[in-house]
Amino acid sequence: MPTLNDIRSTFLDFFARHDHRIVPSSPLVPRNDPTLMFTNSGMVQFKNLFTGVERRDYTRAATSQKCVRAGGKHNDLDNVGYTARHHTFFEMLGNFSFGDYFKEQAIPYAWDLLTRDFELDRDRLLVTVYHTDDEAAAIWKKYAGLPDERIIRIASDDNFWSMGATGPCGPCTEIFYDHGEHIWGGPPGSAEEDGDRFIEIWNLVFMQNERFEDGTMRELDMQSIDTGMGLERIGALLQGKHDNYDTDLMRALIEASANLTDGEPDGSGNVHHRVIADHLRSSSFLIADGVMPGNEGRGYVLRRIMRRAMRHAHLLGAEDPVMHRLVGGLVGLMGQAFPELGRAQALIEETLKLEETRFRQTLARGLRLLDEEVAKLGDGQPLPGAAAFRLYDTFGFPLDLTQDALREEGRAVDVAGFEAAMAEQRAKARAARTGTGEAADAAIWFDITEAAGATDFLGYDTETAEGVVQAIVADGRAVDALTGAGSTAWVVFNQTPFYAEAGGQVADHGRCGHLKECSTMAGRAFGPVSATCRNAAAGSRRTG
Ligand code: ALA
Repeated sequence: MPTLNDIRSTFLDFFARHDHRIVPSSPLVPRNDPTLMFTNSGMVQFKNLFTGVERRDYTRAATSQKCVRAGGKHNDLDNVGYTARHHTFFEMLGNFSFGDYFKEQAIPYAWDLLTRDFELDRDRLLVTVYHTDDEAAAIWKKYAGLPDERIIRIASDDNFWSMGATGPCGPCTEIFYDHGEHIWGGPPGSAEEDGDRFIEIWNLVFMQNERFEDGTMRELDMQSIDTGMGLERIGALLQGKHDNYDTDLMRALIEASANLTDGEPDGSGNVHHRVIADHLRSSSFLIADGVMPGNEGRGYVLRRIMRRAMRHAHLLGAEDPVMHRLVGGLVGLMGQAFPELGRAQALIEETLKLEETRFRQTLARGLRLLDEEVAKLGDGQPLPGAAAFRLYDTFGFPLDLTQDALREEGRAVDVAGFEAAMAEQRAKARAARTGTGEAADAAIWFDITEAAGATDFLGYDTETAEGVVQAIVADGRAVDALTGAGSTAWVVFNQTPFYAEAGGQVADHGRCGHLKECSTMAGRAFGPVSATCRNAAAGSRRTG
């Protein structure tokens, strides 16, 4: 039985044989795309190659890309643990062509790898194509010999792939595996498509468009290929399993979790072990890529993932922090393919241990409060927003952790009430700081942070980065643009490699490459706002 490590190698070897450059996975925090929270597919590191902005010394590439889908457009967090195929962290196997080959070659590559190297039964494969894509349908028919009824035309967005609200995109063809009549479900496009019988295994995107913020699209100058196949999914198939969590790698993590807690990987704690296995991977890889738990932005997503896992460990009866003790096993399983994991092992362990130690101080009390609040409710009545907010504010329970805790009994949280309680607290804080002098001056920064979120700090891992301009402040006021050369302003970015002046440490200084004539940048801390740009002339809201 091939292991996930073997399957990854088979995939990469196949494309290396076909003249593809094997490129290492890029970090989970995209360096070249400030609009994305996390790298969520293999094409992210190549985005600028598709649009023609960047060129490299290769036009064909293959990767096994680390991906996190726990925020933004592609978010799987809520389903993890409860379903067979959702992960917050997964690996995406992909082959890419940048203006090199197109459909006529991408489809044969995929078919050959699946049916020859992976030896899948060709009679169990079927595909979808975008409804107007006669060309792709014809190639499937001719090369793979698929009959018309196994080439399904889909008119919806399911067969038009986009990375996010903006960026390269295009129609796609998806390859499905039929697990057989004994499993409930219908082919893609049918009313029963959500069943488990027909499982999508590979998505081939024909990159030919770019979408802009205003919703318009242009045709790209060159036609390219972007493909994505979840390693855990194809792994399950090739290992004769139906559930990604039964593959060798996930199973080893589940068993390690059971060994440290209830000793029963398949007992009543099975969901808890699955959540822990998945969240251990996303937390560890995020920390290895420079994300630290925090209260805003990426750091808060990491904290949410970590705390969710910690609640599940607590429910398994763990008396002491558990997560950090699983890291060594993970490094043993994945450290060869991803050396950064081993390099960061000590940091990952320390971060997990500290967070779990802290959270355990409030976790049990928070859960008791939750039980008391729930006891007051009738059947099916949602948890009031005020209670969820108290759990958040006093006990450090992210909203989705509370939702996850109530999921088993089918109870929801009054999210609108939670948000109202949050807004009320913010209003109080705002009222408290509208005074005169420094306090009033300071209010602008709080307002910006509230509207735009905090600036993510990237400096643990890089000294250069792109950022989206969130606000420009001149003469103590937020402005849309600067007029006149030589003006001075503070520019707030969504992310920055600049360390801000804080706790007595001086700020980083450097240069801003895009804002015209901008000469110096200095980090400035004000609350969570952390980077500003001085001497920007004629800057306007743009990526800088
Ligand atoms: N980028 C495509 C996907 O994520 C291949 O499905």
